[in-house]
Amino acid sequence: MGFKEMLLEKLEGKVSSAESIMIPKGFQKTGEMIIINLPIELSEKFSLIGEGIMAVFPKIRTVCAKVGGIDGELRRPQIKVIAGEDNLEVQNYENGAWYCYDASKIMFAKGNVSERGRLPSLVKEGEIIVDMFIGIGYFSLPIAKRIKDVKIYGIDLNEDSIFWLKKAIVKNKLGEKIEAIQGDSKEVCEQLTVDGLRADRVLMGYLPPPEEFVPYALSILKKGGMVHYDALIRTEHVEEDLEGVRQLFQKAADSLRSTVYGQRTVEIVNPQRVKSYKPKVDHYVVDLRVF
Ligand SMILES: C[S@@+](CC[C@H](N)C(=O)[O-])C[C@H]1O[C@@H](n2cnc3c(N)ncnc32)[C@H](O)[C@@H]1O
Repeated sequence: MGFKEMLLEKLEGKVSSAESIMIPKGFQKTGEMIIINLPIELSEKFSLIGEGIMAVFPKIRTVCAKVGGIDGELRRPQIKVIAGEDNLEVQNYENGAWYCYDASKIMFAKGNVSERGRLPSLVKEGEIIVDMFIGIGYFSLPIAKRIKDVKIYGIDLNEDSIFWLKKAIVKNKLGEKIEAIQGDSKEVCEQLTVDGLRADRVLMGYLPPPEEFVPYALSILKKGGMVHYDALIRTEHVEEDLEGVRQLFQKAADSLRSTVYGQRTVEIVNPQRVKSYKPKVDHYVVDLRVF
């Protein structure tokens, strides 16, 4: 029996057949919390549905309803507790690291789970990494857990992300491996570059693709370093769109040329498809080596 059937069994006689059609087949589980997408038409039944879900999954601590999309630049989800403990703090263990966050303030990007597994396997001992959109540490926490000698400068505009990232740094016993910096990554990268920092690797995990951040990433990158860039690639024009990404980086590298770096060459090492973004467009992480 699927989730929806089990839930409807618990709700028998409490929801109409029209209402039962609006209950989704799936949900998101994060730590001991379930988040379910419920249409506003069901708002009067939210607590009943929440109680039903808790009866289906007795180990769940809190049930939340998603009552809107992801809000604004800071990617805030709009959710409310509908059953269980009124506590939105989540601790989620994945890929060898604990993630901590408040589910009402932070979006946990489930779709990038393969990237969270892949990136740490590419990093070598001794690397310096700049994570330009660290969030709550999606990529950087598993990297810092796996690599003994690594220094990560993690930047995020959202002070809530930085608050939870700092909690996770403590919970994962990472000491000084990750420096959590709140601010705009253009400004922070510029300052770190002026201070003389140069990175082996720059993570640019943000959609829509953060094109205007490319010169800042290149300025802080060592010669021979690697950038991981989030791109949207049309399924029927993969080669053309990947070449577009390479040219975007090559042009930015060319315009930085006259300053400190001299001639640089950008190569795509590995275009990695992450997931479908919308019909005929896929989300890729493109690994670019800059010589
Ligand atoms: C969707 S999350 C990406 C997290 C993670 N890198 C990933 O790909 O799964 C994007 C993050 O970028 C942050 N952000 C948006 N604009 C920013 C900026 N100008 N400088 C630094 N961080 C920014 C948001 O606060 C958010 O935490």
